[in-house]
Amino acid sequence: MNAADLLRSPCGSTALVDEAAALVDDETALVDGTALAGDGTLVGDAALVGGAALAGGPALAGGAAAWRQRQERYWDGISDHYNGLYAGRWSRLEDAWVERRLGFLRRLAEPTVLDLGCGTGLGLRMVRRLNPAARYVGVDVSAQMVHGVGDPLATLHLGTMDDLSFLPDGSVDVALGLFSSVSYGYDTGRVFAEVARTLRPGGWAYLSVLSDRALSRVRGGAPLGMYRTRGDRRPQVAVPVRRLDVARVRELARRSRLTVVRSAGMNVLSGLFEQPAFWHLGRLAARLAPDRAHTIETLLRKDPDVDRVTPYGAPAHVRRSPARLR
Ligand SMILES: C[S@@+](CC[C@H](N)C(=O)[O-])C[C@H]1O[C@@H](n2cnc3c(N)ncnc32)[C@H](O)[C@@H]1O
Repeated sequence: MNAADLLRSPCGSTALVDEAAALVDDETALVDGTALAGDGTLVGDAALVGGAALAGGPALAGGAAAWRQRQERYWDGISDHYNGLYAGRWSRLEDAWVERRLGFLRRLAEPTVLDLGCGTGLGLRMVRRLNPAARYVGVDVSAQMVHGVGDPLATLHLGTMDDLSFLPDGSVDVALGLFSSVSYGYDTGRVFAEVARTLRPGGWAYLSVLSDRALSRVRGGAPLGMYRTRGDRRPQVAVPVRRLDVARVRELARRSRLTVVRSAGMNVLSGLFEQPAFWHLGRLAARLAPDRAHTIETLLRKDPDVDRVTPYGAPAHVRRSPARLR
């Protein structure tokens, strides 16, 4: 069975399926979003990038560069309509829920806030409401998405969240990756490691990913490993994503030496049946089965005693307190 056969089974659109099949190497088959050789071992890019192998998602021929190009093309293409797609009552309920969880921002004095996949500025508006003294740095691959942000005090960086080398170690108080943004990074493990590196000791991160076991996946419409944002009805267009479950988020946090403060599914009905009257039902279901929610939302903290966290995969970290070494 080749990649196209495997892709064809769960979802409807053959055009999308063909497009997705063209994305993977001939020698690989896309099984639940991960590239596997015939014997089941990880091959190609998936084998090279630890975090991407832990997260689901296709191994694109062309690797990180091809991934970034796909992201740019997809998000540039939807940018004109993006805010309109997220203006409904369901989206506003989601926004309010996330903003409440970011309430800790109010207590920080002039924090530097990094927003991964900042898009059209939803995160910026939340940060401004919660803490007007915050310094805001947004990162996004899509020039068209950030075009409309329009805040002269915001620093915007056009680039990928996998590479935050424009930021020094320990220079960020809070890192955000809102509304599934972390799922669009090429190597999720590297994204976590870059967040850990750039956070100051004691800093916070709030990271959202698409759930690998979301109920919304029964809706179909895009092949495995691919995704379309809310209300995107363009034919034959989708973007590759990394999906995780709560356990894998915890594993990536552990590898990056970030502590999970809490992890929660947002709403089981998001992306599936977005009737505001059922918001609380979807919330209750997400409490009972977080992995079934559309997104997994995790609050993390960098140990206040850590002086430095080295990049993903590299060995040790250094602690300030000798007592902790014993
Ligand atoms: C679902 S949108 C979320 C935007 C914004 N955080 C919000 O909540 O409205 C995902 C955003 O991530 C950006 N993106 C995709 N891949 C990226 C990458 N590898 N690095 C940085 N940004 C990326 C897209 O351009 C898009 O703006």
